[in-house]
Amino acid sequence: MSYVAPSMARARIGILISGRGSNMVALIDAERQGKFDADVVVVISNIESAAGLTLARERGVETLFISHKGRSREEHDQLMIDELRKREVSLVCLAGYMRLVSPLFVRAFKGRILNIHPSLLPAFPGLDAQKQALEHGVKITGCTVHIVDEELDHGPIVLQRAVDVRDDDTVESLSERILEQEHRAYAEGVARILDPGFRLNRADE
Ligand code: GAR
Repeated sequence: MSYVAPSMARARIGILISGRGSNMVALIDAERQGKFDADVVVVISNIESAAGLTLARERGVETLFISHKGRSREEHDQLMIDELRKREVSLVCLAGYMRLVSPLFVRAFKGRILNIHPSLLPAFPGLDAQKQALEHGVKITGCTVHIVDEELDHGPIVLQRAVDVRDDDTVESLSERILEQEHRAYAEGVARILDPGFRLNRADE
């Protein structure tokens, strides 16, 4: 997949969430600490009760709830595309957005959608990545920031951070240590792809 650098001088970020929103908060905090040259302009959730919506509002960021219920994936994604375009969003960050985006959405923001996932992809995509890692018995796992393509938890990798698995780890203890790394990784990943010098280092690019 080709990477298209956001063309605006200062990027405008839209964040999609479904729940807690701790990665979203990490991105808003990073923006305010000047860790990347962009503004978080809107947070959209497909779940009305998502705790992250309150956290975004408390930080003065516009929030929208767009339900997926009773709509096809394309209909739901088109509504999100319309709202993101109205706000001239140039980079979309999925932060615990627990739905597969449609090819329509991927095409609308081609190369400009990032996701964070709590494993070292391509290992353990999908739900419960930390549990999958423990059950497999890996000794190192971590998190991945990647550009989103049409497959679940898949696409060119921007950066990864490793986390050691301890013998006495539970899903909760491992998830907590991975989450700390996610918060650092996501801000770094955004900064990296907004850097005009960013290139995907892949043989097929
Ligand atoms: C995070 O661990 C994120 O990596 C994961 O959901 C959690 C959301 O937490 N995402 C996925 O598994 C995507 N496949 P948060 O709402 O506190 O950011």
